[in-house]
Amino acid sequence: MMKPIKKAVFPVAGMGTRFLPATKANPKEMLPVVDKPLIQYAANEAVAAGVDTLIFVTGRHKRAIEDHFDGAYELERELEAKGKQKMLEVLKGILPDHVKCVFIRQSEALGLGHAVLCARPVVNDEPFAVILADDLINFAEKPCLSQMVDVYRYQHCSVLGTEIVPMDEVSAYGVVAGSEVRPGLMEVSGIVEKPKKEDAPSNCAVVGRYILTPRIFDLLESTPRGAGNEYQLTDAIAALLKEERVLSYNFEGRRFDCGSKLGYLKAQVEFALEHEEVGADFSDFLEELAERREKVVPLKKNA
Ligand code: UTP
Repeated sequence: MMKPIKKAVFPVAGMGTRFLPATKANPKEMLPVVDKPLIQYAANEAVAAGVDTLIFVTGRHKRAIEDHFDGAYELERELEAKGKQKMLEVLKGILPDHVKCVFIRQSEALGLGHAVLCARPVVNDEPFAVILADDLINFAEKPCLSQMVDVYRYQHCSVLGTEIVPMDEVSAYGVVAGSEVRPGLMEVSGIVEKPKKEDAPSNCAVVGRYILTPRIFDLLESTPRGAGNEYQLTDAIAALLKEERVLSYNFEGRRFDCGSKLGYLKAQVEFALEHEEVGADFSDFLEELAERREKVVPLKKNA
């Protein structure tokens, strides 16, 4: 019997250079989409998939994430005194009571592989999930990690969350090769980090969701620095699939790369349109904006 997935690792120690200056004093995972920071969407996704231990691998901006998941006694007391019950519930509902948070410091940003290895003392000998919170995934029926846990339950092996991307974009991702088990599910035979378009084995790209067996830790220990002179998780996965079955799963849902400005803005619009409180008004605003721009653009052209 394979052990259930109870632990999730959130590497949040990256530099977030693509989002400077917003990420100068704040981790990019604390950027809000409408009213929740990215890291909270990721934590909620993990909890929905059955995870009860959240392991944050943090860097120099440790406090903001810790504070977000910690109790806020004074704020709660103040809201209570002012009778702001709804807001109080929002605060208390950030995580259910049974969920534990553990914070580990990655002293130097040496790469995603190194960040995941930092979680070893807490994960120990269990299969676990890795979620990169800057990949925000919207879903219709089931969150991405829950879909992957379903695959893991039947297949009992590591599962990589993947997406078919345009061939021109493959060099931004880890890319897999393999044979189809069923539509959307592939047995991985090779994986490369950020290949050139002409060297890419496919356009099936790994996104920020992984379920991994603990064997990955031994392989991370012995993996040398790779692309960008960083310790790459992809390189350790390449070693893992020589020893164990690894599957790639094309999740159902829409992913937003919130580590990039454009991806973040698109997420903001989609999530705002779906938001219970502001969705309808925001939709009216976008329509009005589109009309205004239609009128303004020809004017500019004539000028
Ligand atoms: P990215 O490749 O997006 O790097 O990391 P980054 O530093 O966060 O962002 P840019 O490219 O400079 O804008 C992928 C994920 O791995 C984490 C990041 O926090 C992000 O969630 N990471 C990366 C670490 O935790 N530690 C590292 O050493 C590197």
